[in-house]
Amino acid sequence: MTDFKERLQVYQKSVENALDSWLPKPSIQPKKLHKAMRYSVLGEGKRIRPVLVYATGEALGLNLQQLDGPACAVEIIHAYSLIHDDLPSMDDDDLRRGRPTCHMAYDEATAILAGDALQALAFHILAHDEKIIVNSNQRLNMINTLAVASGSRGMAGGQAIDLESVGKSLNIAELENMHIHKTGALIKASAELGALSAENIDSELFSRISQYAKCIGLAFQIKDDILDIEGDTETLGKPQGSDQALNKPTYPNLLGLEGAKQAANDLFDKAIRCLDVFDEKAEMLKQLANYVVKREK
Ligand code: IPE
Ligand code: IPE
Ligand code: MG
Ligand code: MG
Ligand code: MG
Repeated sequence: MTDFKERLQVYQKSVENALDSWLPKPSIQPKKLHKAMRYSVLGEGKRIRPVLVYATGEALGLNLQQLDGPACAVEIIHAYSLIHDDLPSMDDDDLRRGRPTCHMAYDEATAILAGDALQALAFHILAHDEKIIVNSNQRLNMINTLAVASGSRGMAGGQAIDLESVGKSLNIAELENMHIHKTGALIKASAELGALSAENIDSELFSRISQYAKCIGLAFQIKDDILDIEGDTETLGKPQGSDQALNKPTYPNLLGLEGAKQAANDLFDKAIRCLDVFDEKAEMLKQLANYVVKREK
């Protein structure tokens, strides 16, 4: 476990350095927009998605430098999704990563633009980063993977389902569909971008990685729903009880807390089984699956 924590920190540091250098400096015009982008990306996030990019690369024996770009791209899309998720027209939250949300710290228009600009920056990085060594076709495949995962058939679509579902009681298939899109898609894309960073990726290994990440992506949002009930605002760095206040359908609502925990644990087991064709280099992916269901924030 100590080993896991150390490795986690190495990866977190690595993506944070790369993020800092890709983000426009706050002294560059338009300063307010650039400051808002940096404020939201460089706050205290867990960096789970970038860590998944690196851990997938590690499982495949890749040189980690070439993963900085994809790691930054997924984290930047994620940061944009959080800025927009917190807006008054969406979840209307005022606390994120232990500080005021972007629209509280700046203003609503700046928060919308920061999200827009971050989304564009993520694709710029994938298109432009010289440390990505795969051929152009595969680079296009990476860009497409992130685009589909972020758009109306991925995260943004999931957010639309989330908003439409307020006050409704979804059945388990509908709830799973919402979670797979709003949160699962980007987590799955993170692992896939790690795998697509390999020059030649075996299709069986790719599909195992993808399936593994689909399981932990869903488990991640189930755990997020659980923490919304069991966590505390200080540890979470975001308001506890937000789902209930907004009347959102969640796993604990439908299955009870114990049922939701069981669902997350079942997905953990399934994720681990997907990795049984990998050698010891996949240890970090296993530990990460465990972290997703055991985390306290
Ligand atoms: C929060 O994501 C939003 C969800 C998709 C559940 P994280 O829990 O990864 O948030 P940070 O990046 O650590 O702040
Ligand atoms: C957010 O889900 C999913 C995103 C795409 C950002 P939540 O609305 O549950 O995330 P939190 O709890 O605000 O972080
Ligand atoms: Mg939301
Ligand atoms: Mg929210
Ligand atoms: Mg939540």
